[in-house]
Amino acid sequence: SGPINIGLLGLGTVGSGVVRLLQQNGAAISQKLGRPLKISRILVRDRHRTRQVEVSPDLLTTDPETILADPDIPIIVEVMGGTGAAREYILKAISQGKSVVTANKDLLALYGKELFDAAEASGVDLFFEASVGGGIPIIHPLKECLAGNRIRQVMGIVNGTTNYILTKMSREGRDFAEVLREAQSLGYAEADPAADIEGDDAARKMAILASIAFGTRITYPDVYREGISNLTAQDISYAADLGYAVKLLGIAREDEEGIEVRVHPALVPLNHPLAAVSDVFNAIFVEGDAVGETMFYGRGAGSMPTASAVVGDIMEAARNIKHKTRGRISCTCFYDKPLKPMGA
Ligand code: NDP
Ligand code: HSE
Repeated sequence: SGPINIGLLGLGTVGSGVVRLLQQNGAAISQKLGRPLKISRILVRDRHRTRQVEVSPDLLTTDPETILADPDIPIIVEVMGGTGAAREYILKAISQGKSVVTANKDLLALYGKELFDAAEASGVDLFFEASVGGGIPIIHPLKECLAGNRIRQVMGIVNGTTNYILTKMSREGRDFAEVLREAQSLGYAEADPAADIEGDDAARKMAILASIAFGTRITYPDVYREGISNLTAQDISYAADLGYAVKLLGIAREDEEGIEVRVHPALVPLNHPLAAVSDVFNAIFVEGDAVGETMFYGRGAGSMPTASAVVGDIMEAARNIKHKTRGRISCTCFYDKPLKPMGA
């Protein structure tokens, strides 16, 4: 049968990767799904900007209604970022009965409840694998494969930009600002890179992971955070002399007293696996009572790794549309549990 149409909101680093991946592997994807996927319209701010990927200019629009109100587009992919227009468009898409795939951790870490409630009420899918860990499969494993466990801890490196900066400062003695510019040019950093270096991006991701892991609702303001902007090359070099790597860690734990979620730089012994996680790579340890310790590792940012996660979600949404099983897998984990005081 005919293609499943996709409305893409955003054609920057991630959006371009999604287009490229669907061009590159379109035939195989179509074979797996039994139907091709087709990007039928793309929302951008500026139709005349030079793009990282070749697309027909006719696909580009600056009018969201031409996508959101089109009954022939059942899947919306939001890769524009931000919590203003993105929230409005996702809610509109859901209310129109469209499934949504998003990479937007800022939005989920603040307005997750509103969005998941809306998706559940409309019986559509809302998938967000790319929101944490770039290309690493972590949301689905945590939500589904490890669901039988009581999760005790989720811990690791969840920001590629800061890990890239710390790696280059430590191994090559390079300057913070110069390496940050490099991370930006490689498409790793957020639109405002302060979100990366001040720990906000990692805090948003930890809020999402902790909510799923502990079956409760943690939002971004609940997370204690400290970034790497005050670290100097000398701090990193002293740490190395003492046998430690400096890493920006996200830590979420639950015990009898409650839940704590925090992000801050930490000294990691050089013989710990996290010390060897370099450049844009992320690594997330999940400890469950049945499974013990598991580790998820891979590229935590960048165009194609992130597109890998987005396209996986698109395919799942498309399969659910084909089999009329949309909205079956929701994110209704949530009940409220006590949080320990911030920074305790
Ligand atoms: P970019 O800044 O590279 O791209 C954003 C795109 O969205 C641009 O094409 C821009 O249009 C469009 N856009 C933004 N605001 C609007 C608006 N109001 N109306 C219409 N179009 C708009 O961002 P990224 O691709 O890096 O990131 C996108 C999302 O994915 C963010 O939520 C980010 O946090 C998340 N993410 C990013 C990762 C990465 O490695 N970069 C990894 C995982 C998640 P125009 O091009 O015309 O300006
Ligand atoms: N800016 C983010 C990072 C992108 O560096 O990890 C991936 O979420």
